[in-house]
Amino acid sequence: MHFEKFSWEELCPLAFQALGTTGGLLLVTQGKEHAATNVMTIGWVSFGVVWGRPVACVLVRPSRFTHVLLEETLLFTINVPPTHLRKAVEECGKYSGRTMNKFTHCALTPVYLGGFPVPSIAECVATVQCAVVEKTRVEPSTLVPLIQETYYPQGDYHTIYFGEIQASWKRVEP
Ligand SMILES: Cc1cc2nc3c(=O)[nH]c(=O)nc-3n(C[C@H](O)[C@H](O)[C@H](O)COP(=O)(O)O)c2cc1C
Repeated sequence: MHFEKFSWEELCPLAFQALGTTGGLLLVTQGKEHAATNVMTIGWVSFGVVWGRPVACVLVRPSRFTHVLLEETLLFTINVPPTHLRKAVEECGKYSGRTMNKFTHCALTPVYLGGFPVPSIAECVATVQCAVVEKTRVEPSTLVPLIQETYYPQGDYHTIYFGEIQASWKRVEP
């Protein structure tokens, strides 16, 4: 098994298919001050072109350990799980990297691709490497009340990270 580069446009249908079959994608971050590599499930993501660049947007609540690590490096990878990783998707969305190593717990293997300093996940079918070019907080005063009441009863408003896509890779079986 190895990874080959492919276009981010080709990654999109795989990502949305995985959201349907496993319920999420796997967001990997790595700290600087915190010597930790972490994986967290995300359900909300968008891919597109902003500022003339390919960009992936992810929404991370400040309460997540992922938020701490992301603020230290402003780099992340998004990994597309195959259907058989459904359990890992569930567990990475339930437990925090503050209290356990989810790579070990879920038998996931970090793999560094093309010199990017944050790893991808070897068991995933595709991965995209991103560098944050903008971040902003969800702003309560401009949010429609229905979304405010449904998703933010406790506050913890997401930070939205705009990650410029540096490279996309797909797993190739021998
Ligand atoms: C299907 C699913 C989707 C999720 N999507 C997000 C998301 O987009 N943003 C977010 O902040 N948390 C999301 N979560 C919650 C985090 O994955 C969860 O709180 C996780 O334990 C945080 O891990 P961490 O503390 O190691 O960062 C999701 C959870 C699940 C199960």
